[in-house]
Amino acid sequence: MSLSPQWLDELRSRIALSGVIGRSIRVQKAGREFKACCPFHNEKTPSFTINDEKGFYHCFGCGAHGDVIRWMTDHQGLPFIEAVKELAAQAGMDMPEMDRQAARRAQEAKTLHDVMQAAQDFFVESLKGPGGEAARAYLASRGFPAHIMREFGFGYAPDSRTALKQALSRFPEAMLVEAGLQIVVEGKTPYDRFRGRLMLPIADQRGRIIAFGGRILTADKTDAPKYLNSPDTPLFDKGRTLYNLHRAAPAARSASRIVVVEGYMDVVALAAAGLAEAVAPLGTALTEHQLERLWRVTECPTLCFDGDSAGKRAAMKAVARALPLLRPGHSLRIVTLPDGMDPDDVVKKRGREAMLGLLGEARSLVDVLWEGERDAAPLATPEDKAGLKARLLDHCETIQHPDIKALYRRELLDRFGELAFARRERAPFAPRSPARPAQGARTGRGGWTPPPPPLAPETATRLTQKVGSGDALLAAVLAGLVIHPQALARHSETLARIHPAHPDMAALLDTLLVFSESGEPLESAALRPILEARQLRLPTADDYDGLRFGFLSGQSATALDELAEAIELIVELPAVELALTQATERFETEISDESFAEQQRLLQRRLALLARLGQMGRTRASL
Ligand code: UTP
Ligand code: MN
Repeated sequence: MSLSPQWLDELRSRIALSGVIGRSIRVQKAGREFKACCPFHNEKTPSFTINDEKGFYHCFGCGAHGDVIRWMTDHQGLPFIEAVKELAAQAGMDMPEMDRQAARRAQEAKTLHDVMQAAQDFFVESLKGPGGEAARAYLASRGFPAHIMREFGFGYAPDSRTALKQALSRFPEAMLVEAGLQIVVEGKTPYDRFRGRLMLPIADQRGRIIAFGGRILTADKTDAPKYLNSPDTPLFDKGRTLYNLHRAAPAARSASRIVVVEGYMDVVALAAAGLAEAVAPLGTALTEHQLERLWRVTECPTLCFDGDSAGKRAAMKAVARALPLLRPGHSLRIVTLPDGMDPDDVVKKRGREAMLGLLGEARSLVDVLWEGERDAAPLATPEDKAGLKARLLDHCETIQHPDIKALYRRELLDRFGELAFARRERAPFAPRSPARPAQGARTGRGGWTPPPPPLAPETATRLTQKVGSGDALLAAVLAGLVIHPQALARHSETLARIHPAHPDMAALLDTLLVFSESGEPLESAALRPILEARQLRLPTADDYDGLRFGFLSGQSATALDELAEAIELIVELPAVELALTQATERFETEISDESFAEQQRLLQRRLALLARLGQMGRTRASL
């Protein structure tokens, strides 16, 4: 089929997007556009706009965006070609003729399906025959019930280079080669690919056989691979196929769960244990196509990895692959099985309930990402910690969806902050008798240093009053960001570490961060109405109590630098306050020169920060 860009443009231009969308959700005219509550995320006030002229919809809330075809695939869940067919029918356009090559391929594919089915019939017969003795014994040793062996279509490929060729002599040899059943080597006659193996048919989503996997029976042939799969053929694309999906998809809908395991035999073992909703990739890591396919079945597939080091690596790899593809309501959960077990071992040794228990404890993507990176390398030095932070942020960078990206950043930086800046456990100190003060309390001269008075408390108090409370500062910074949104991108990392206690401020900050993550250039004049339309409260002069930072006027040449400094201070000031409280507590219980010095240093730092804020804030009050 050749759908030229011109043909698709014609199709788009003949269809009013608002009409198509209006059939599924309520849309309202708003000027030259239409508005609706976004069907891709949960909201009460409409941020979803439809522009018929441009032929696009766009959601300012979740970033959902696309044309009429995209609507049909993403909202109506149709495959691309079906979406196009349906729209073409609405528009009264004929689908373009299939070109000749595509027609020939379709014809060929039909007959290759016949070859594959004939091969399957032959393998099943061979398993029953005298040559299938060893394969039957092996199957018996794995303990699968008869109905499962029938359902999964186990067969046997005789240990011969010509058995299949002879059985399928009604098909031309070239076709057996194209189907991947025969191997061609220069100068030799083609010979059977699968020899002396237990055979498992691999089907497409409609249940037609498109490939085979063959398991070795003898343990001693160490040079031969345990599993041999069909090569890619016109029927079989390994990276787009999932073993057992045609049976698992319907089962998954009733179980509300689909489980992805590493091996074919795991799928069979789970089915034998009554879990029909399992699939496996075919000897490779899960591809993007396979993930998309799984998401069409359920919102949150569960990936199950073997409890060995390869399984743990595979889990991280799968997470990395999924991040760029995440969309609202499309995620993954991950189970890593205990001590070297695969799902087959779990159901055999511990039973079905144990497997269900493990599936129930699946970890979220963000947990796996965090734990995987946290445990990937030692965290002894500041450099180690910086390395962890860089790795986490690199992962976030790969996330395409702006909201999800912003949320991952916040979540991971939060966890990083907790780990990296965790309050150190105070060393337990022996109960002191008043007669014997602690070691550190002696000065070099052996005398006793009385606890010093806190450094100039009245200076600090005056400064604090002058620059206002932490909330006032934050309000000023938020107001500054609305005036200078171009500063957002540069400081998003720092801003993500701020957690305003006030819900209005938290909502505003979150929204600003999400906007900055979307990467679109922001202009203050455009930003204000958008924020107001979302009913976010913008800080006013009352909120920042007479602070008069240069960046609040919008004129000052140094506005951006001052804003940068204020943002840094907002983070540093509470950190210093906290450290100071801790140092003071420590000083009360463990009087030493060192703890005294630390407390003094922190007091000085706090004063310096407040003074700097005082200068920048240029308040009416004077010291
Ligand atoms: P495993 O060796 O874990 O498979 O390989 P398994 O299903 O547990 O095998 P049994 O229980 O020993 O029979 C996982 C998957 O990797 C691919 C296959 O798809 C297999 O199911 N594989 C493995 C190969 O393609 N070739 C190999 O040589 C080995
Ligand atoms: Mn196994």
